[in-house]
Amino acid sequence: MYLVTGATGGLGRRVVRLLRDREQPVRAFTRLTSNYSELEQRGAQICIGDLRREKDIRRACHGVRYVISAHGSSDSGETAQETDYRANVELIDSAKEAGVLHFVFISVLGADRGYEESPVFKAKREVEKYLQGSGLNYTILRPSGFASNLLPAARRFRQTGIYLLIGDSKTRTSIVSTDDLAQITVDSPTREGARNQILPVGGPEVLRRDDIPKIFSRVFDREPITVNPPLALFDGVRTGIGLFDAQAQNSLGTLRVLLANEFFCTPAEIEHLESIFEIKMETLEQFVRRYLDG
Ligand SMILES: NC(=O)c1ccc[n+]([C@@H]2O[C@H](COP(=O)([O-])OP(=O)(O)OC[C@H]3O[C@@H](n4cnc5c(N)ncnc54)[C@H](OP(=O)(O)O)[C@@H]3O)[C@@H](O)[C@H]2O)c1
Repeated sequence: MYLVTGATGGLGRRVVRLLRDREQPVRAFTRLTSNYSELEQRGAQICIGDLRREKDIRRACHGVRYVISAHGSSDSGETAQETDYRANVELIDSAKEAGVLHFVFISVLGADRGYEESPVFKAKREVEKYLQGSGLNYTILRPSGFASNLLPAARRFRQTGIYLLIGDSKTRTSIVSTDDLAQITVDSPTREGARNQILPVGGPEVLRRDDIPKIFSRVFDREPITVNPPLALFDGVRTGIGLFDAQAQNSLGTLRVLLANEFFCTPAEIEHLESIFEIKMETLEQFVRRYLDG
């Protein structure tokens, strides 16, 4: 039995689909308020709970052989502490008690760079270390930005031609196909080369951020109108928000880290990944065409 947390998220949903396509038994951890009917229809066992409650985590781990931790928070610092850090530590402890054979943790590219501004990056790094010291077999995947997150911007572009790019347009990035990442996640427990490894996961190309509207332009055959406010404007708005909502300001710290820094994998890292998982990583253009072309 596989336990998947974040089963209703962009990645988790794909992981559950893939496991069910392979007729593997899956327990999908979801909140009562989430949209989980599709997962149920695919034959996943639904485990209702909240990752902020330890007893829900313990119950979810009962009888499980593999854990895929694919949940995440995007809001306040407190939530990152609860959801990205504490819930994962409790998952690891419960997995150990339950005799889990392999634990896959979805971290983030750059988790080891010590970004003080981002509670999420800090939590990811601490969980990585905790998992490495747990005695469990593990794979830690450090993905770059997900291609699926760009689909709303691509749809907007298709309608308007407008692309919003905050900050330096030359910053390098390597957007990963969320479907490739799901496959790598699902295959991690069974690939020798992934055992007890930390693996960066990105797309096959190192892009500059202003390549993204160019890709959309090719896919949708329309001229891009790139709106490019400076990072200083974002900082000003963030400081303004902080005057009346310190928590919101804190949560925007992760977004600032993402906007201000480079997140890409080297060609050697991608080659290594492709050889471990026998996969050819998809480009952003291929991903967008597959979802939105025609
Ligand atoms: N998106 C990216 O570009 C990116 C890049 C690098 C790494 N990552 C990491 O990859 C993982 C997956 O990201 P994603 O974009 O697929 O996530 P997502 O779409 O934001 O989904 C987050 C998932 O976590 C669940 N969740 C949050 N708090 C919970 C709680 N208290 N109890 C139970 N479930 C809870 C959500 O459930 P609900 O449906 O109930 O909200 C949802 O299923 C995360 O660990 C993220 O940090 C993401």
